[in-house]
Amino acid sequence: MKILPLVIAPDPLLKEVSKPVEKVDDSIKKLMKEMLNTMYAQRGVGLAAVQVGVLKRIVVIDTDYEADDHDHDHGHCGGIHVKNTNPRYFVNPQIIQFSKEISPYNEGCLSFPDARSEVNRPKTVTVKYLDENGVEKLEEMSDLNAVCIQHEIDHLNGITFVDHISKLKRDMILNKMKKLKRL
Ligand code: NI
Repeated sequence: MKILPLVIAPDPLLKEVSKPVEKVDDSIKKLMKEMLNTMYAQRGVGLAAVQVGVLKRIVVIDTDYEADDHDHDHGHCGGIHVKNTNPRYFVNPQIIQFSKEISPYNEGCLSFPDARSEVNRPKTVTVKYLDENGVEKLEEMSDLNAVCIQHEIDHLNGITFVDHISKLKRDMILNKMKKLKRL
C-alpha cells in the first residue's frame, strides 16, 4: 500500500478549511487506508486528509499499536512494521460536547517534524462522525484519544497545534520549520 507525501509546515494548504465528504465510497475508503499507512510509517497517532494534500473532512487515528524499526525498507512500509493496530476512521467528525475539565498534553504533528509543545484542551469530548462504512456514530473520547481527535479536527478547520500556544513558541517552531525546508 502507498505511503503518501506529507504536507509540511509552513504550507498555505494547512490553513485551508476542508470540505465535507458526501458519501463514504470506495475511493474514500482507499484514501483512509493510505492515510493510515502513511501515519504508521511516521509513527504518528493521527492524521487529517489535508496533511496528505486532500481537502476533505477525514481523520484517521490509532493511539494503540506497536511499531518495530527494521533496517530494510521494502518501499511500502517506510522501514517500520506495525502490529496490534487499532485503526479508527472519522468522516465529517464534529465535536458536540466538551468537558469543563482541561488537561495538558505535549503535542506533536506529522506536518511539524520534531516539534512539540504543550497544549491545553478539554479532557473529554463527545464526537459525532461517520465511520468507515458511512454509519453515523456518537462517541465519548477522553485522554489521548480526545487530544488526537481535537488536534485532527482542528486540521480540518485550517488550525494547527501551534495556533494554541504563545506567539513566542509558535515563531520558534515556525522558524525551525522554515530552516528545515531550506536544507
Ligand atoms: Ni497534526
